[in-house]
Amino acid sequence: MTNQPVHHRPVLVPETLKHLQARPNGRYIDATLGAGGHAAALLAADTTASLLGIDRDENALAIARERLAPFHGRCTLVHGNYGDLENLAAEHGWPSADGILMDLGTSSMQIDQPDRGFSYTQDGPLDMRMDRTSPITAARVLNTADEDELTEVLRTFGEVPGARRIARAIVTRRETRLWSCTGELAELVKANMPRQKGRRTPAAARCFQALRIVVNNEFEHLEEGLEMALELLAPGGRLVVISFHSGEDRIVKETLRYAAKGCICPPELPVCRCDKVPTIRLVTRKPLRPSAAETAENSRAAPARLRSAEKI
Ligand SMILES: C[S@@+](CC[C@H](N)C(=O)[O-])C[C@H]1O[C@@H](n2cnc3c(N)ncnc32)[C@H](O)[C@@H]1O
Repeated sequence: MTNQPVHHRPVLVPETLKHLQARPNGRYIDATLGAGGHAAALLAADTTASLLGIDRDENALAIARERLAPFHGRCTLVHGNYGDLENLAAEHGWPSADGILMDLGTSSMQIDQPDRGFSYTQDGPLDMRMDRTSPITAARVLNTADEDELTEVLRTFGEVPGARRIARAIVTRRETRLWSCTGELAELVKANMPRQKGRRTPAAARCFQALRIVVNNEFEHLEEGLEMALELLAPGGRLVVISFHSGEDRIVKETLRYAAKGCICPPELPVCRCDKVPTIRLVTRKPLRPSAAETAENSRAAPARLRSAEKI
């Protein structure tokens, strides 16, 4: 059952390097190291750069460690969550950074390995934990959440059509047999979803995405990670974030827009009371998308959106 995982193909690499604007002796943080594709490109492009690489998945770290061996001495690789970015950076001697990359979501190694439980096309255990030391699995969510909670999860994190009906079917089924396998969940979603006119993303994909977000508490960590990344950047330093679905991109867009804003007092106040000043400048007003050539070569790049901002 364990297919050999294919290495993750990094997306928007030239664009990421351009937006990070590597500077001589720059110190960078890759908060989502994955297989180390972006990190390797950065360290190769600038031979004076050093990098702190973080991933919550031990398996990804092991792959990145091998790939980044040629840059040994210029990179420090750490198991951790970017929701804890400030502590991780401080603990490893990175009080500030000249550039930070967050390439969100899952890697191909996670999706293509059925025993990780991320794939709705291959059968495996309902796991979906990026960090396998975390106690909450997808099976636990499906076997314990009530119908209302499941409906909310499917609607909020996956915009799943027919969320209520699918949630009810999930609860009904577990009365006779507890949830344990991805294949059975994909079947149930298929059997209970309404007709999908004009929707490109299959309901099962949306359902799996919603569960994955909850299991890994992704949105909360993303909000925390973005705030900390903006704090850690040195003046002139760049934050580059690549997101893969609208929920992630919305959080990135709103966080960056808010940080780029000055006074937020109500217009009727004669003088500013909030003292809010912009802490960043938006470099991309609209997100960058991969070229047609890149998506033709790597279909997983298609939904990617890159946003970047510079610390003032
Ligand atoms: C799209 S992949 C990154 C691929 C990487 N840029 C490369 O070139 O190989 C996303 C990675 O982020 C990691 N990740 C997701 N959420 C995280 C979090 N909160 N903290 C740390 N790593 C996280 C995942 O485990 C995964 O390995």
